[in-house]
Amino acid sequence: MSAQEVNVAIIGGGLMGREIAAALQRWPALVDHPPRPRLTAVCDIVPAAMDWFDQIDTVTTKTTDYRDLLADPSIDVVYVAVRHDLHQVIYSDVVRAGKDLLAEKPFGIDGPAARAVLQAMADHPESFVRCSSEMPFYPGAQLAIAAVRAGGLGRIIEARSAFLHSSDLDADKPINWKRQVATCGEAGVMNDLGMHAWHVPLRLGWQPRQVYAVLQDIVPQRPGPDGALVRCDTWDNAVVHAWVGGDDDGFPLAVETKRLAPGEKNTWVFEVRGTEGGVRFSTKNAGALEVFRVVDVPGVGREQVWQTLDVGSQSSWPTVTGGIFETGFSDAILQMWAVFLAERAGALGDRFGAATPQEAAATHEIYAAALRSHAEGRRIAL
Ligand SMILES: NC(=O)c1ccc[n+]([C@@H]2O[C@H](COP(=O)([O-])OP(=O)(O)OC[C@H]3O[C@@H](n4cnc5c(N)ncnc54)[C@H](O)[C@@H]3O)[C@@H](O)[C@H]2O)c1
Repeated sequence: MSAQEVNVAIIGGGLMGREIAAALQRWPALVDHPPRPRLTAVCDIVPAAMDWFDQIDTVTTKTTDYRDLLADPSIDVVYVAVRHDLHQVIYSDVVRAGKDLLAEKPFGIDGPAARAVLQAMADHPESFVRCSSEMPFYPGAQLAIAAVRAGGLGRIIEARSAFLHSSDLDADKPINWKRQVATCGEAGVMNDLGMHAWHVPLRLGWQPRQVYAVLQDIVPQRPGPDGALVRCDTWDNAVVHAWVGGDDDGFPLAVETKRLAPGEKNTWVFEVRGTEGGVRFSTKNAGALEVFRVVDVPGVGREQVWQTLDVGSQSSWPTVTGGIFETGFSDAILQMWAVFLAERAGALGDRFGAATPQEAAATHEIYAAALRSHAEGRRIAL
């Protein structure tokens, strides 16, 4: 096997396990990417869940016990997409086995779980670990990040990062593991969607100093497996008002994560406004980046101008896709894997990398403060 070939195993063959398996089949779309991943193994405790993987002919191992994969020396990288209450044990076992790991968010069910995985990583520094978060790899998001980093916005007045979902609008939708504290976590919707909304702010250095949170439990019961109503005890919507930076030069950052956002589907919105300029990007209109500038308009004077930039297809890693073609969720997933495996191979360069375990752990500290803020009706310092 060439040093550039990377054998990948997936633990959890559900929604995300299949999404990633499909993304890896599109690898030839990446131009001159050093590693060549091959999906060779899958594990799910439900054997029928693995039938789907039969159509991928590189998959030669199927097992219901993930420890079989960890004992297999041919496997280099493990992607884990399981319930949040299973993250700590499985992620730690992957790291202890010396495998590299792309872990699904929220990287443990809570702060202590995330810290336990960080400890396993400290004990096994040979294992390269990142956390899944694909939204920043939309081309428009990359441009928005570049614009903020370039510093041309003047003094930042405010920022907003919102992940808006509508999967739970139907109150008759049956309960599942994502809607129960025991398997999703006390942070509820923040555990589900928070990494999507916090990755870019944290990478920009916008660690909140204090938070004030408003949480909603909109659908408190849902039909169980037999149709009888059972408690749906996770928070559905969360709005976290954070203060970033110093007293004099800081600004408010609003981070919204909502499972019941009427009129939305699966949308991440990122918006920053400063005294001289601003950017606004939404995955709902992924081909466009809105740019705001205060400019001198000849004959008119100093005025506020919004412009829309067509962003095309190119994101972090170049692809064979035509530059003017338009982009979507599956492209962002492929780009996240491209930067994950590039960084693992030491070839990331100055590109925006996948979310780090430290960033993921920091989100749990924010969620814990948000839970306290809502319970006590006051702002909490971090
Ligand atoms: N990045 C994203 O955009 C995104 C989107 C959805 C979900 N997620 C995350 O992905 C993870 C999984 O979510 P999902 O929607 O794919 O869930 P899912 O319920 O669709 O799939 C989970 C799979 O794990 C299997 N499983 C359970 N216990 C197992 C074990 N011990 N060993 C092996 N397999 C086991 C289940 O049988 C199921 O097939 C969660 O952490 C979730 O937050 C990420």
